[in-house]
Amino acid sequence: MRHLIDFGDVSRQEWDELYTRAAAIIDHPKDFLEACYGKVSANLFYEPSTRTNFSFQTAMLRVGGTTFGFADPKSTSTSKGETLKDTIKMVSGYADVVVMRHPREGAAKAASLYSHVPVINAGDGGHMHPTQTAADLTTITRRRGTVDGLSIGFCGDLKYGRTVHSLIKALAKFQKIKLYLISPRELAVPEYMRMFLKEHGLWNVEVTGLEPVIPQLDVLYMTRIQQERFVDPLEYERNKGVYILSKSKLERAKADLLIMHPLPRVDEISQDVDDDPRAVYFEQARYGMFARMSLLADLANQERLTPPPVEIGHGPVCHNPNCITQFEAYLPPLVKVNGGVECCAFCDAAL
Ligand code: NCD
Repeated sequence: MRHLIDFGDVSRQEWDELYTRAAAIIDHPKDFLEACYGKVSANLFYEPSTRTNFSFQTAMLRVGGTTFGFADPKSTSTSKGETLKDTIKMVSGYADVVVMRHPREGAAKAASLYSHVPVINAGDGGHMHPTQTAADLTTITRRRGTVDGLSIGFCGDLKYGRTVHSLIKALAKFQKIKLYLISPRELAVPEYMRMFLKEHGLWNVEVTGLEPVIPQLDVLYMTRIQQERFVDPLEYERNKGVYILSKSKLERAKADLLIMHPLPRVDEISQDVDDDPRAVYFEQARYGMFARMSLLADLANQERLTPPPVEIGHGPVCHNPNCITQFEAYLPPLVKVNGGVECCAFCDAAL
């Protein structure tokens, strides 16, 4: 069964096919009205969402399928103590595809072990968000024609920003990319992403100041400081409002810069930037719907498959306090090797 858990697992050829179909959908939406005819998606949102949930719902409706699900886990048996495994086994009996957002890192990977239908990761804690990446790459490719050769600045919370981690993984599949990682030191990319950058030889610099690097950039990807993921509220207080992109700061930026943001925005892009033709964040959200239509047209049309039996674990081997294995003790002790280092196969943290 092909799932979408981590963009690192998507080959360059698979992405090219996905994008080609997304572009065809944008240009000829009527040709895809029945691409998922009769299919049903389960949208399980254990965490707040506006764009991702709505765009997955509208995407499925626009390719001829239907959806059901929840946007608040308090209304489900999770609140009675049901395990993720049982919920997924049951829901995958009703649906043809499961779209899941969860506050724990590695939750989508965990779900995929027990599902009879494809699982799409719509965000797992501060870890990954591969379908936002599909939206981001679609935006860049539609607007610039190519992703190769671009200088891309990521600004804000690069520690907990899952959209950043996913997009960096995808950018490793392109040529001559330069990454400017702009964050306060406390919110720099996590160790597993640093290992990834090194392993893939991606050109990158880590800086704390936004303004000095703006003139170099082809894409500026702003992010929200992820308040809900901070263990220490004081750490959030120290870092909130640290970067604010305003019209005046864009004076030295390239004329064809793309200003992107996965949204929601808090205060990191001021309102006076919205009408700048270089600001593409609302368009980016719309491209996300087309990218998800393309993804559903592929993944939701697979045959159901009974997953192989899964070893029963006896508690977590991983030390990340927000890893799904800390909360679902039966999960198997899966390990993978990233850049020669043993890591948790659910959340990527080094063991
Ligand atoms: C992002 C997310 O949920 O990670 N939003 C989204 O899906 N477009 C970014 C964020 O919440 O800051």
